[in-house]
Amino acid sequence: MYNGLLHAHSGLRWIVLLLIIYAIVNAFLSQNKGAYTKKDKMINLLAMIFLHIQVLLGLSLYFISPKVTFAEGWMSESLTRFYGIEHIFGMLLAAVIITMGRSKAEKKLKGTRGKHRKILTSYLLGLFIILVTIPWPFRGFGAGWM
Ligand code: HEM
Repeated sequence: MYNGLLHAHSGLRWIVLLLIIYAIVNAFLSQNKGAYTKKDKMINLLAMIFLHIQVLLGLSLYFISPKVTFAEGWMSESLTRFYGIEHIFGMLLAAVIITMGRSKAEKKLKGTRGKHRKILTSYLLGLFIILVTIPWPFRGFGAGWM
């Protein structure tokens, strides 16, 4: 169960990253298009849904991972501090920024350009936070590439 979740969480990162990047490039290229089409909506929605699935997998791992422990001294150990607070905080923040950005673009903003720009800025900020909060193998948190 733990291994299955860990592999799913690790591998899904690539799909999440690709979908967010695709949504960003699409928003950038569509800014002057004069329409916010069904296709744009689908791309932005799909990226957000996969991010939410990844957050749910991460939250499940949070309760079973041996790397999340609140034993004495966990805050002074970089590995337990990373998984116990930094990773979850960064990822939840990124998910909130992307979700609220998309919601504002879809429901509140009227102009096409404004919608694309909102997606562009919120997804870019979310992507940045995700990239710096992923436990890339070279960061020494015992995680792999897949
Ligand atoms: C609230 C959201 C999240 C929580 C609570 C969470 C939690 C965790 C936990 C507990 C681990 C350590 C698992 C272990 O090695 O025992 C982990 C690893 C990891 N997380 Fe997350 N995560 C979240 C969101 C994300 C997101 C959005 C991404 C990427 C898009 C991501 C990418 C990764 C990667 C790449 C690993 C390393 C997996 C490996 O060991 O190969 N996480 N996460």
